[in-house]
Amino acid sequence: MATAPFFSLPHSIKHLSDSGALSSVPPHYACRDPDAPSDVDPTLEGQIPTIDLSVLTEGDPARRSEMVRQLGRACEEWGFFVVVNHGVPETVREAMLAAAQGFFDLEEEEKAEHSGKHVMDPIRYGTSFNTKVEDVGYWRDYLKMVVHPAFHSPAKPLGFGEVLGQYAACTRVVGMELLRGIWESLELDEGYMNNALGLDACFQVCTVNLYPPCPQPELATGLPPHSDHGLLTLLRQNGVDGLQVKHGSKWVHVKPPPNSFLVNTGDHMEIVTNGRYKSVLHRAVINGRSTRMSIATVVAPSPDTVVEPVAQLVSSERPAMYRGVRYREYLEHQQGNKLREKSALDLLRVQ
Ligand code: OGA
Ligand code: NI
Repeated sequence: MATAPFFSLPHSIKHLSDSGALSSVPPHYACRDPDAPSDVDPTLEGQIPTIDLSVLTEGDPARRSEMVRQLGRACEEWGFFVVVNHGVPETVREAMLAAAQGFFDLEEEEKAEHSGKHVMDPIRYGTSFNTKVEDVGYWRDYLKMVVHPAFHSPAKPLGFGEVLGQYAACTRVVGMELLRGIWESLELDEGYMNNALGLDACFQVCTVNLYPPCPQPELATGLPPHSDHGLLTLLRQNGVDGLQVKHGSKWVHVKPPPNSFLVNTGDHMEIVTNGRYKSVLHRAVINGRSTRMSIATVVAPSPDTVVEPVAQLVSSERPAMYRGVRYREYLEHQQGNKLREKSALDLLRVQ
């Protein structure tokens, strides 16, 4: 049931944090038990798979096949991997971070032009995840922009759209290259998959997350455990760590190597592969010292595609595990409700 927002816009976490007067978090943000034993396993960090994209794009056939196999294993065992040699110029990646910082540095009133509307609006600025339905707040401001098949960008700050356009195009190429390898790892035909998922008109959204320093980082959180909609999410951050992914029963704190993308599988990967490659749970933790910024780019089927398990991965031994759903409807549901683990995907499971 929707209740009145507990947090009146245009206030943002940045605004709260910049005021400098905070020595504790407002009660709505205290959603963690500071005395709970740590669920992070530091020994797993070194085991996160790394995918060298240049081997997928240019490698000789034998090296490519081996990398495809590693990619498949990363999807199956982790749903998460680091991508290096991805070909996206560092200048483009840096420019995107600077542009995002420029947006968050605008006056609250200017940012608020993009806030408080429908979850399917192509440009959406806000705080937490969905203040209309949540009873807790997350220590995060965000700007979400649909960048494909139609491109949307705020007009301010000056030059933002140009940088975003470049970043979106480059990351889309990386996403498509990874998808090509992923289909191959499952012996699925690339042309068939592109067609079935409408990937020429793929849906792509860029989310810029800002996590200001928090006076009580042990009580609040940036984003709670959740999986992403879509097929793949590519993430880069500003050099401040905070992403944690779930592996088995433990959480892994991710420290990305320089010039890399962090990639996770999304709910629609799980649906289309009939559960062979599951979407991974992840969360964002915050800290008391530094502002963290991340840019997450989701690559997804075209909005009107009905996404369902592909016939090749359905058999009498492994019947379809999910009902088909139109991507647009899934997205609207996921964005319109509380962010809770895999609750949106759970609704589609065939019991
Ligand atoms: C997201 C997300 C994690 C991060 O935007 O969906 O999971 O590290 N972000 O910012
Ligand atoms: Ni996420």
